[in-house]
Amino acid sequence: MSRLRVAVNTGGGDAPGLNAVIRAVVLSSLNRGWEVWGIRRGYGGLMGTDELVQLTRESVRGITHLGGTILGTTNRGSPFAYPVRQPDGSIITVDRSDELIEAFRSRGFDALIAIGGDGSLHMANELAKKGLPVVGVPKTIDNDLAATQVTFGFHTAVQTASDALDKLHSTAESHERVMVVEVMGRHAGWIALFAGVSATADVILIPEIPFRMESVCDKIRSREAEGRPFSIVVVAEGARPVDGEASFIREAEPGAAGRLGGMAERVSGEIARCTGKETRSLVLGHLQRGGSPLAYDRLISLRFGAAAVRCVADGLFGTMVALDPPDIRAVPLQEAVERIKTVPLDADVMLTARDLGISFGD
Ligand code: F6P
Repeated sequence: MSRLRVAVNTGGGDAPGLNAVIRAVVLSSLNRGWEVWGIRRGYGGLMGTDELVQLTRESVRGITHLGGTILGTTNRGSPFAYPVRQPDGSIITVDRSDELIEAFRSRGFDALIAIGGDGSLHMANELAKKGLPVVGVPKTIDNDLAATQVTFGFHTAVQTASDALDKLHSTAESHERVMVVEVMGRHAGWIALFAGVSATADVILIPEIPFRMESVCDKIRSREAEGRPFSIVVVAEGARPVDGEASFIREAEPGAAGRLGGMAERVSGEIARCTGKETRSLVLGHLQRGGSPLAYDRLISLRFGAAAVRCVADGLFGTMVALDPPDIRAVPLQEAVERIKTVPLDADVMLTARDLGISFGD
């Protein structure tokens, strides 16, 4: 095969394992005699806001275990809705995708490996429809991408959240308080569910099940009646009450998603009001996105990166690599972005949680 020029980028929120994917992409390509270039900060390196860097063995040495991304990332600056500030301070968005494709072609690239979540893979799919040879790699701690059993970064985020819940247990018990902990999970409650069950939470509120405060308070009162005067409540940031909306700390601006946050504090206030108990809330936030990936995430990241390069070698463009145990296979990007993978209400972990007496506030 000829000497291909492969470009790789990381887009959207970071997740533990990004560097391991980059390493696998670089080494698998170099071992085929190809050249690899990193597009810095999303598509910035091709759109004049950042640079392109050639990636060598040296660039990816010793990075498998490192959090973050050596290429930088952004969740702004989609080439399809690029934000441009107007003289009056307002922001409009413009479609710069043709310009991006032209920049990609003029640099002589043969393939793009786009590592990203829902938003980045949507972009990759649109670029593929316009003829860009792209292979996607599924990243997000939220684990909400369809077509793959798991995204890299998810298990590390679950571990971080579960460790935090373990620590909160002892302080909740000493003070006989209710601790309400907000974890990430915009559209799906995977982190809340997995961490909550693993760390024996009493209530788990997820976006898939609008909750009733009365039901949450009943659970806390019944624990109190059984001689357990403390409780742990896990709230996914995208959870909402049956009669209300999700909580935003910033509404969406052109070219960017709104920022969720504050539901734990609201729930905590309501619990204090209806049970009379002392409550505290905290937001784990970006702690869940940082740090060294667990061995599971390193391995799946390395497997995804190597598989993406095999897709390039086989000319399988417009695809995303996906875990379909025990294999990694290529699925059409369209299939991957068509829907969000929410928690099925009859999933075994849900049934387990209910069997253990955990409340979902329904
Ligand atoms: O997509 C992952 C995610 O962690 C969401 O759960 C969260 O809403 C979002 O990223 C926050 O991203 P940022 O703070 O980088 O805008």
